[in-house]
Amino acid sequence: MNKNQKLIIDERLRLCAEFVRDGSRLADIGTDHAYLPVWLCQNGKCPSAIAADINPDPLERGKETIKNSGMSNIVKARLSSGLKEICADEADDIVIAGMGGELIAKIMEECSFAKDSSKHFILQPMTKSEILIRWLCQNGFEIINQDCCIAANKCYTVLLVNYTGVIDEKDELFCYIAKLSPKTKKTHRLFVQNHINRLLKQANGDVRFAVLADKLKEHINDCK
Ligand SMILES: C[S@@+](CC[C@H](N)C(=O)[O-])C[C@H]1O[C@@H](n2cnc3c(N)ncnc32)[C@H](O)[C@@H]1O
Repeated sequence: MNKNQKLIIDERLRLCAEFVRDGSRLADIGTDHAYLPVWLCQNGKCPSAIAADINPDPLERGKETIKNSGMSNIVKARLSSGLKEICADEADDIVIAGMGGELIAKIMEECSFAKDSSKHFILQPMTKSEILIRWLCQNGFEIINQDCCIAANKCYTVLLVNYTGVIDEKDELFCYIAKLSPKTKKTHRLFVQNHINRLLKQANGDVRFAVLADKLKEHINDCK
């Protein structure tokens, strides 16, 4: 890539990008190649971005993308475990994508400014989204929006959340469905169907998973 070439990102990162507010300063946690922060700055959606990663090797890859894009003046690479090296006044919107739901919840838990309600968090769990959603509800975060997409033949979900302080013990079904609309959106339906398939596999050892899978099936069948 040279300075005049625009980066191309896949549907999963594009969906994360859609949830970022125009004009917001971005922090991308677990950035690896730094594709998302570079793309958002190249496309004028973010005036600046921090591309952070806990591991030096991915951060080096990120630095390479930043350098090749000619965006070094506005996209800064930073070694950071979660948001520990990011100050509250450096970012408005924070993306944590491409990690497991439990790790994302842990990063949120350890973030000193997660409870600043002006911040938007865009979370893209690769696995165990239900655990992340339960954690969010139990810790006063509101799910403002959620969407799904297909990339490389896989279905992914992205959550837009912020802190409201309202603790809401949602039932187990909510942790799997949250803001999805399987009735109107095919990708949402597919995401829930994938939950059902996983639960049915787990059900061999535990009937509770089968009951939950049935409830989810009922829910999406009601939506047909
Ligand atoms: C699979 S990559 C995802 C890259 C990019 N965010 C995406 O969604 O395409 C996960 C990255 O998260 C980084 N990572 C894992 N745990 C982290 C943590 N606690 N804090 C910051 N980065 C972390 C890894 O080093 C790795 O580069």
